[in-house]
Amino acid sequence: MLSVKEAIEVRRSIRHFRPDEVPDKLIEQMLEGARLAPSGSNIQPWRFLVIRDKEVKKELRRICLEQRFMEEAPVVIIDKTTIDYILPVLPKNSSKDRRSSSSAASTCTQGCGG
Ligand SMILES: Cc1cc2nc3c(=O)[nH]c(=O)nc-3n(C[C@H](O)[C@H](O)[C@H](O)COP(=O)(O)O)c2cc1C
Repeated sequence: MLSVKEAIEVRRSIRHFRPDEVPDKLIEQMLEGARLAPSGSNIQPWRFLVIRDKEVKKELRRICLEQRFMEEAPVVIIDKTTIDYILPVLPKNSSKDRRSSSSAASTCTQGCGG
């Protein structure tokens, strides 16, 4: 296992992704790790949107100034602050479920095991 120092030193941004499916179990583990981040009074106000939809990822690529990896990654996870910005600009033909912030919240609740 890496020491904290080693983990900090080897960490880097990844901008190319294999198209492999990412299992829900792994996503849940990542969200659980994110949930444990420190927050004021430990209120854990996190909300995450887990995006697999190709059309939505395509739109994210456009919004993110044509950064290809936004579309290439099999899954994109967006935090609440970004969701508030992104939801109004998602494709108009997105389903209500995709565009609703309560959907994002339920994704988090499920993902965080709450
Ligand atoms: C607030 C913030 C925004 C960032 N935005 C982008 C981005 O839009 N595209 C990108 O490729 N990297 C982005 N990065 C990653 C940085 O470019 C990257 O951390 C930096 O180049 C150092 O490289 P490293 O993470 O591999 O050590 C962002 C990092 C932070 C902290």
